[in-house]
Amino acid sequence: MESEFQIITTEDGSPSVTWTNADGLSESMHNKKGALSESLFIYHHAISLVTNKGWTPRFLSVGLGLGYNELIICGHCLQHRIPLAEVSIRSFESSAFLRQNFLDWLQGKAPNKSQLDWWKLYYDITESISKHFGTSSTEVKKYLAGLLMLGQWELSKELTPQTVFTETYSAILFDAFSSQVSPALWSEEFLSGFIFDAASPNCVFVTYAAKGTLNRALRQHGFIMEEQQGFGGKRQSTFALRVANSLTAKPL
Ligand SMILES: C[S@@+](CC[C@H](N)C(=O)[O-])C[C@H]1O[C@@H](n2cnc3c(N)ncnc32)[C@H](O)[C@@H]1O
Repeated sequence: MESEFQIITTEDGSPSVTWTNADGLSESMHNKKGALSESLFIYHHAISLVTNKGWTPRFLSVGLGLGYNELIICGHCLQHRIPLAEVSIRSFESSAFLRQNFLDWLQGKAPNKSQLDWWKLYYDITESISKHFGTSSTEVKKYLAGLLMLGQWELSKELTPQTVFTETYSAILFDAFSSQVSPALWSEEFLSGFIFDAASPNCVFVTYAAKGTLNRALRQHGFIMEEQQGFGGKRQSTFALRVANSLTAKPL
């Protein structure tokens, strides 16, 4: 299973992984110009927006991968002194290997021989994120482990059209593989149902990609698309905002 993933170093010095499936189709988890820089550029703005606007800090992350976005949420919350009790995250990750590896590391298990490189990778990622937010890697790791322990970080398996949402989210960080590798996740029908089920009335939806199917699904549900540059030479990414209309809200 591990052999599907090859650890690489991107141009900003941060680690990423290239994944190859059984048919030999390869996909990089991040832009080669910088995994950390890309994650901060695409996703941090949405996380900040939620806390700046005072929206409920409930985050949905599609594609745990190496955990950049989850750790960025924690770094941001620590920097802004947001109490653990207020924050919740639901993440999806289809790879059992990535889920288990990350959980083992987060819960402080000693690595076996094949996990040594992965523990270093998680440490390097946490260290660089904590530096960015002016905190320590121990604090960032402790924050996410705390959310897990309190049942406020839920790590689910694959996101599918059958996934049931009992809660909605203020920020959706949609970091799935591309439509070449995961076509089902990028169809307008799937995206429309997913946004209907998972987005809170006040919600920001972000992803590294820009696609017509996604734009249409977001507009159908009242999101406004904002002009957003892509990372590392890509022309565009997606930043879409829906703000509940206070004039039409029912009085308390
Ligand atoms: C671009 S990578 C995510 C990178 C990640 N956000 C990070 O910070 O490292 C995409 C991830 O989505 C996962 N994935 C693919 N299809 C999925 C699905 N249907 N549901 C959940 N995760 C999926 C892949 O296994 C991969 O780890």
